[in-house]
Amino acid sequence: DEAFRALGSRRVLVAVGPDAGPVAGTVVAEVAAATARFGGHLVTAPVSVDEVLASDVVLAILGSGGQVGAEPAVQAALEGGFVLGADAPMRSGAFTVERQDGTTVVVAADAAGLLYGLHALVRRGEDAFSGSHQVVRDQPVNGIRMLDHWDNMTVHPVMGQVERGYAGGSIFYTDGRVRDDLSRVARYARLLGSVGIDAVGLNNVNVHATEARLLTDHLDDVARLADVFRPHGIRVFLSASFAAPLTVGGLPTADPLDPAVQDWWASAVRRVYETVPDFGGFVVKADSEGQPGPFAYGRDHADGANLLARALAPFGGTVFWRAFVYDHHQDWRDRSTDRARAAHDHFTPLDGRFDDNVVLQVKYGPMDFQTREPVSPVIAGMPRTRLAVELQVTQEYTGQQQHAVYLGPQWEQILAFRLAEDGRTVGDVAAGLPEGRPAGLVAVSNVGTDEFWTGHPLAQANLYAFARLAWGAHDPLAILDEWAGLTFGDDPAVRAAVHAVLDDSWRTYERYTAPLGVGFMVRPGHHYGPDVDGYEYTAWGTYHFADRDGIGVDRTRATGTGFTGQYAAPWRDVYESVETCPDELLLFFHHVPYTHVLHSGSTVVQHIYDTHADGYDEVVRMASAWEQVRGRVPDALFDRVTQRLAEQERSAREWRDQLRSAFFRRSGIPDATGRTIY
Ligand code: GCU
Repeated sequence: DEAFRALGSRRVLVAVGPDAGPVAGTVVAEVAAATARFGGHLVTAPVSVDEVLASDVVLAILGSGGQVGAEPAVQAALEGGFVLGADAPMRSGAFTVERQDGTTVVVAADAAGLLYGLHALVRRGEDAFSGSHQVVRDQPVNGIRMLDHWDNMTVHPVMGQVERGYAGGSIFYTDGRVRDDLSRVARYARLLGSVGIDAVGLNNVNVHATEARLLTDHLDDVARLADVFRPHGIRVFLSASFAAPLTVGGLPTADPLDPAVQDWWASAVRRVYETVPDFGGFVVKADSEGQPGPFAYGRDHADGANLLARALAPFGGTVFWRAFVYDHHQDWRDRSTDRARAAHDHFTPLDGRFDDNVVLQVKYGPMDFQTREPVSPVIAGMPRTRLAVELQVTQEYTGQQQHAVYLGPQWEQILAFRLAEDGRTVGDVAAGLPEGRPAGLVAVSNVGTDEFWTGHPLAQANLYAFARLAWGAHDPLAILDEWAGLTFGDDPAVRAAVHAVLDDSWRTYERYTAPLGVGFMVRPGHHYGPDVDGYEYTAWGTYHFADRDGIGVDRTRATGTGFTGQYAAPWRDVYESVETCPDELLLFFHHVPYTHVLHSGSTVVQHIYDTHADGYDEVVRMASAWEQVRGRVPDALFDRVTQRLAEQERSAREWRDQLRSAFFRRSGIPDATGRTIY
């Protein structure tokens, strides 16, 4: 709220017209609260030209000028001089900001744009009201900016209430139903709306029995959640179980080509829209890790996705169909099966068969949200399908919100990755640029009932960064700086400490965990802490094949699983050769001896020794940087971060010592620096 000071102390005219809807109502309410708090003045319709000209700030929806005051001059004052006013059409969420004769004017395409424009002013603080600057035009590059919640209504015996949640219980549900008190959800919706998130998935992609009935028996509860999100420009989605016609509907089958199944989905969806008219649609995890799907009926994923898409289409709904499909009952002895290949093998033959309201939701890497993976070859491989790229804000494999790991740099690197020789990036495919099929970005949320929302207070930066990158911002450190300013104010010492802890924290985490892109080495099940062979002889397909001579997975076409062949040029050749494969992905693509010399000049085993020692030292340095802000941030927050950094240090030491020892014992090669190995 403090960030509203500059705006709230001024005279603000909001021109939205009387029937502009709930999102415009939020803009008016935000300005009313801010001006009441900071001594400014809110003017709403109708007004005169003089009042327009006397305002410090004007916020207007394109075309609403006439509703503000009868005079054409008012309209002209609001819209006349603007690039936007002359330009048409603008995409939902777009806005411009201009300073004119001492007035800061925001003109938006629609109410959502006005909300985003308002928050753009808030982020800019006093700067938004001084000097004169040119028209700034801003609009989201992605039409879909979505957060999925892996929340269960009840507490699951193994996964807890929020699957892979590290911030307490669900903010939505308690005791098998939606909470009576949704005030925390309202604060969350406000936060997400302020950074442009426009869609939220309300329940876990692993749909258990209680949650399967959200679609049928709990619709009033879903409507209550939709009511809370709607004023912030956010539509709600449900994860649906593909077997619902069987398990909930009592039919003998869930075969997508069976007319009774199609009718069941059509009427289930109709009932949803009767209760929630702006319902977004479904998120579906099918034939994946035990979830039901079309394979049981000899059908493919296009049959499955289109079944739900056709039920949703009359109402404007969308299916987010996940591409995370692989064999999770693999025999570790079977060297011919490669989990990394699975999504491409399953989905690329279906390119062009998905209906227009299907979005294929693809994890950024071919495995599973690891600290380092190559980008999924599916992203370049389906030009006739709408693709959303899925990221994991919740830190399942990146320290579980015990470790300070700022993921902005990882995501920016993924989004900026050039997929092929035509120069298109991952971000372009998601956005549908230049002439592709637009979808957007999706991520798994990291909030819960914890008093700091994300367990680790600094993990809030990841939530913020995801939203800003999904909007179209690029520079992860600038985004972090923006977040630090909004969260902690202007104190330069605090900002410096936040940067010192977070700027390089993703790479630091990478240094002390699984090396050179090989992935996993985590404790099975909960995935926290080191366990070099934890997954080596399991059914999950996540192996490193380290023996006394070498380590890594041969995914080449020449001698391995052929996974490199799923990439377009140049990557199919860059990754195929140890000469050209980047160091950070070497062990993802190649099995090499410990003595293999990296591009960095180090050997593989010396790299493991060095990075694990250095990574731990870096965590020690992060903790002392944070110590500098004692007394400059609230004590409870300071203490929480301090405790988490102590745990990060303990855990990093564990990773360091286990990894260094494990590879010394395997290879028998001493650490050239002579540092202790246990
Ligand atoms: C990971 C995670 C699971 C989750 C799955 C998914 O494998 O460990 O908890 O269900 O991803 O994305 O569906």
